[in-house]
This record gives sequence, structure tokens and C-alpha cells, in this order.
Amino acid sequence: MIPPTLSTKFDIDLFQQKLSTQWLGQAICYVKKLESTNSYVKKMPLNEIVHGMLCLADNQTKGRGQYERKWESESGQNLTFSLVFRPTEQERFHVLTLACALAIVETLTELLSDAEVCIKWPNDVLINQKKVAGLLTETMFSGNELDRLVVGIGLNVNQEQFLSEVASGATSVKKVHGEFVARELLLSDLLSRIEYKYRLWERRQRDLMKSINRNIVGYGQWVGLQVNGALQDDAYKLLGINETGQLLMLNQDGGIESFSYEQIRIVTD
Ligand code: BTN
Repeated sequence: MIPPTLSTKFDIDLFQQKLSTQWLGQAICYVKKLESTNSYVKKMPLNEIVHGMLCLADNQTKGRGQYERKWESESGQNLTFSLVFRPTEQERFHVLTLACALAIVETLTELLSDAEVCIKWPNDVLINQKKVAGLLTETMFSGNELDRLVVGIGLNVNQEQFLSEVASGATSVKKVHGEFVARELLLSDLLSRIEYKYRLWERRQRDLMKSINRNIVGYGQWVGLQVNGALQDDAYKLLGINETGQLLMLNQDGGIESFSYEQIRIVTD
């Protein structure tokens, strides 16, 4: 599906030629080197923001991850980008993040037919149990009104070596696929899928929730749980997410508990 190319420079013309979305990524801001694409679009004046805008960088010097962590990514090898949305509604953002994660899962599953690709709650994508992508969603409000919603995505594409702290748990598309992958084609394919998922998210489609659930690691299983950093003694059964994006867990007494994504970590073997 994706012909290999050996170029490390992101080819905007090729990307735009291949992009078949109606609105997502049609407005693009490509900066070769910046601190963080999320920070960049958060600082943009509102009159320069377009719903569906893509901000892409080849090199982030201060890439940010969840929980104030850094996101390290080798220059020119991966995809580090932010999508800016101006949704009409003011909630369910975590479902949208998971919908984007699902789009990544589907894109990679098509490319890597033998690999196991899934979502690790709350915001990671794994290939064969190693992290290939992370998502960082941020909101900006002016007063009570949502000004912009930023979904930042870091996807390891052609990087082969990782820093020692993350090396054992990280992977890239190339490491699994065995061949260099053209980021332009991967991104255009991914954006088509995200645009489609966005429509399902807006329409509150039940099938979207089902697909997200089916792709979350541990779905339907008894798993260990860390709540606010503390590992719980009892196992919980992972029932899936609800409409607002909270995770529903069955406890040992048969009660259903809901958790927001900041609160918990799932621990599987
Ligand atoms: C995580 O796994 O902790 C989330 C990582 C998110 C990284 C992406 S890269 C593009 C965007 N800009 C950032 O500074 N972070 C996100």
C-alpha cells in the first residue's frame, strides 16, 4: 500500500497531492523546527485558526507528552503534528482522542497485517505491546466558550534507535514493517480516517464506541488497576468506555465504577 521512499525530508507537495480529505489537513502549517506543535497552535491568534488545521514539524525541540513528560522524536524520521478542531460541542473530548487513536490503529493494521495493534488506555497506541504513538489533547477556552481543541500526535515512523529510558518499551512502524515508510502517504491515509471518525464522533455513533472498546488493551478482561498512582489489591473487569469517555470497571462486588482518564492506569501481564 505504501511504497517505500528513502527521503527524510517531508515532501509537502506529495502529501497535498495524496490528501483526499474534505477539510482535515487542507489548511496546513508546516514548520521545519519548533518547540512543540501543540504549543505553537495554542499561541496562534484565533483569526488564524481554521477548523481542521494541521500543524506539522520535522523537528520538535520541546515536544510534550502526557503528565508533563517530554516527547522525544528523531528529526526527520517520524510524524509529530497537531490537529486543531473547533467543535460545536464543549465536551466528550476524550472520546475524540480515542477516536483518533482508533484511526491510527486501523491505519497501522492495514499496513502491518501480521502485527497486533491496539489502544493502551488512556492515550497510547501499541504495536506488539510496544508504544508506537502517543496523543496529547489540550483545550483552550475563552471564558466558558471553547476556543480550540488541539490533538497532538507523535507517531514513530522510521526511527530505529530510542533513548535508553524508553528503548525497551518503544517501537516504530519501520521496526515492525522492516522497510522505510513514506510519512507523506502514511499521514494522508491517517487524516482520511481521522476525518471519518470525527464525523462519527460528532454524530455520537454507537459503532464508534464499540470499535474503540474492542481495540483497548484488556477489554472484557480482569485487569490490575492503579488509581491515582496506587495499585489496587483486587482485579477489575474492563467494561469499556462510556459516552463521555470515562472507563467503566466492574469491581469484585459486582458494582460498576467509572474513572476519568487522569485517574487510572491499567496493568496487564
Ligand atoms: C504521550 O504519549 O505522552 C503523548 C505524546 C504526544 C506527542 C505529540 S508530538 C506532536 C504534539 N506536540 C507536542 O508537543 N506533543 C504532541
